Amino acid sequence: MMKRSAIALLAFAIAAGTSSLTAQTVTSGLRGPTPLNDEGPAPPMLPNRNTSEREVRNYPEQPPVIPHSIDGYQVDLNGNKCLSCHARARTAESQAPMVSITHFMDRDGQFLGSVSPRRFFCTECHVPQNTANPPISNDFIDIDTLLSRASPGGRR
Ligand code: HEC
Ligand code: HEC
Repeated sequence: MMKRSAIALLAFAIAAGTSSLTAQTVTSGLRGPTPLNDEGPAPPMLPNRNTSEREVRNYPEQPPVIPHSIDGYQVDLNGNKCLSCHARARTAESQAPMVSITHFMDRDGQFLGSVSPRRFFCTECHVPQNTANPPISNDFIDIDTLLSRASPGGRR
């Protein structure tokens, strides 16, 4: 029994393998019509999204994505452009949301007087959004969708 299903699985794997191989030679895929041994033209670079609208977070711990452009913003040893708007003391002037309280915590959970060095390099976690259409669609399902799916038997 075991053996037979293993053989069936193997046959299936081989069939799947060959069919994907043929698909590869027939369709052009992401690289377009460019032959495999050539390098095609690079697609044009699209600008980043630049709005004042904050985006919804997919789960509570998600670092919110950056809705505005950050072109030319310096974040290094000598300065942090982000903090010139997002620091606690700057928000009245900038009307930007303050970095949250977690950004003041050291690794022992103690609150520091200013942004923790662990949170200094903002773009480690926060990323701007590009306006390009993703070449491959994303099937990420957020927690609200998952929770709203009634499961068989009535349990949620
Ligand atoms: C000139 C002021 C300014 C600077 C500089 C700036 N921001 Fe912002 N940021 C804002 C404002 C204002 C908002 C609120 C939404 C809006 O108006 O675009 C915002 C929104 C955000 C948000 C969304 C917050 C949320 O809850 O959705 C993130 C994340 C963010 N900024 C990160 C950054 C990072 C990282 C940098 C540096 C690379 C940066 N910002 C530099 C003003 C600024
Ligand atoms: C190690 C990852 C990490 C780094 C580095 C980081 N953040 Fe965050 N940030 C988060 C996460 C996660 C959240 C959402 C949960 C929270 O508030 O802690 C957040 C939330 C925020 C928010 C929304 C606050 C609110 O109350 O809505 C702003 C604004 C922000 N970060 C700005 C910044 C800026 C500016 C920097 C750089 C000085 C920075 N962050 C560095 C992970 C990070």
